Amino acid sequence: MTSVNQSASTATSQDLSQVRFPEGFVWGTATASYQVEGAVHEDGRGPSIWDTFAHTPGRILGGDTGDIADDHYHRYPEDISLMADLGITHYRFSLAWPRIQPEGRGQLNAAGVDFYSRLVDGLLERGIQPWVTLYHWDLPQPLEDAGGWPARDTAERFAEYAAAIHDRLGDRVPDWTTLNEPWCSAFLGYASGVHAPGRTEGPAALRAAHHLLLGHGLAVRALREQGARDVGITVNLYPVDPVTDSPADRDAARRIDGLMNRVFLEPLLRGSYPDDLLADLAPVVDFDHVRDGDLATINAPLDFLGVNYYTRHVVRAGTRPAEPRPTNWVGSEDVEFVRRGIPQTAMGWEIDPDGLYETLTRVWREYGPLPLYVTENGAAFDDRLDADGRVRDEDRRSYLERHFAAAQRALAEGVDLRGYFVWSLLDNFEWAFGYSRRFGLVHVDYETQARTLKDSGRWFAEITRANGL
Ligand code: FCB
Repeated sequence: MTSVNQSASTATSQDLSQVRFPEGFVWGTATASYQVEGAVHEDGRGPSIWDTFAHTPGRILGGDTGDIADDHYHRYPEDISLMADLGITHYRFSLAWPRIQPEGRGQLNAAGVDFYSRLVDGLLERGIQPWVTLYHWDLPQPLEDAGGWPARDTAERFAEYAAAIHDRLGDRVPDWTTLNEPWCSAFLGYASGVHAPGRTEGPAALRAAHHLLLGHGLAVRALREQGARDVGITVNLYPVDPVTDSPADRDAARRIDGLMNRVFLEPLLRGSYPDDLLADLAPVVDFDHVRDGDLATINAPLDFLGVNYYTRHVVRAGTRPAEPRPTNWVGSEDVEFVRRGIPQTAMGWEIDPDGLYETLTRVWREYGPLPLYVTENGAAFDDRLDADGRVRDEDRRSYLERHFAAAQRALAEGVDLRGYFVWSLLDNFEWAFGYSRRFGLVHVDYETQARTLKDSGRWFAEITRANGL
C-alpha cells in the first residue's frame, strides 16, 4: 500500500519495441453469455436475473436489454472467423446457466448444451482453445426467487450444474473457470443494487460472497472428481491506495482493500477470512452463515488464478458521516473515493497501467506461487465508424499497449503469467450502461449486426503473431 504521491514516481519508461512474451503465451479475447448471445427465448432457455433486471424500467441506461445483443447465438461462426483473423490462441466465453438448466436444477436442456457443443467444435476446428467460464452473472431466475446467492442452496445448485455440463463438454474443453468476478455478483448485485438482481441489503451481500466462494469450492471438487484438467477462478482486483500517508487515510485503504480484494483472495488462497475485515464488519454482519469445513472447501488447490484489471482505487478517510444510501462498501460507507484527474476511459475509469503491474506482483508475492492469467483487460472509448469503414481507435491501441508492457514487467520479475485475454472481442451489452459503452476489438452495428475490425484489432493481430510489441 503506497500513497498516491509515492506510486506516481514508480512509473518506469520502457522501450516498448523490446517487449516480448514467453513462447506458448496465451493470447485471447473474452466475452460473456448475456452480453453477446441474444436469443433469450430460444431453444428452451429460461430467464436469468439479468433478463428480469434489464426489463425493469430505469435499471439500464437507455432501457437496453440483452434480448438481441450481438446475436452471437446465431452468428458465432462469423465470430469464430474474426477470432481466427485476430490470431488468438484461446477464446474465453461463459455458459448461460439458464440455457443449460432453465430451472437452475435438474435435467439439462439438450438444445442449450448443443449450442455450446457446436461453439466448442467450431473453435477447435479453427485451432482456437475454448476457455469456459461457468458463471458470468446470469443466475437462473428461479434460483433468485428461492433466495439467490445469499441462500446456501445456490452454492449446491452451482456445483451440480458445473458437474453436469463438464460431463458434456469436458472431453473438448481443458480450461474451466468457476466464477467471473464474484465481487460484482455479491456487492453490485446485493449491496448497491446497480447490477442484477438489484437488491440493496448490505449483510446479504456478504452472505452472497460466501456462498459464491462455497459454490466455487464445491464446483472445483465436482470438476476434479470428473478428471477436469485445469480449474480456476477469475477475480477483479484493484490496487487501493490512500490519498495521503496519514493513519486515517491508510486505514481507509486497508478497509477497502479488505472489501474489494482480500475478501476473496484470502478464503480462496489461504482458507480464512481476514481478521481485520471481520472486525470492520462486526457491527453490521455476523458470519454465522459460515459453517465448519466451508473454508477448507473454498481453499481447494487451483491450477490458475484469473485476474481482471481495469483501474486503481484511491481513497481517503471520510470526514463526515456517510449518507444513508446503498453502496458497495458495506460497513465502510463513509470512505471517499478520490479522482486524480488523470486520463480516463469512457467508463470514467482512470487509465493506470502501473496498477496492473502492482496487482500481478502483489498476488504473486503474497499468495503465490500460482499460475496467473489476465482474464480481462480493455477499455471503452467513444468509437466512430468512419465513412471509409474504419474505426480509428488509437486510444484503445495505446491503452492495450501500455497494459501489455506492464504485464511484461511483471513477467520479467518472475511472475508466472501465462496469458492475456482482451476484453472484449465485440462491442456488447455493457451491463447497467447498455450498448452505450464499446469495449470491442470489433465494432458492432446494432442495427445491422455488421462486424468491423477496429484499428486496435488489426494491431492486436500483429501482437498475437509476433508474441510481442
Ligand atoms: C468486467 C466484467 C465484464 C465487462 C467488463 C468491462 O467487470 O467482467 O463483463 O463488463 O467489466
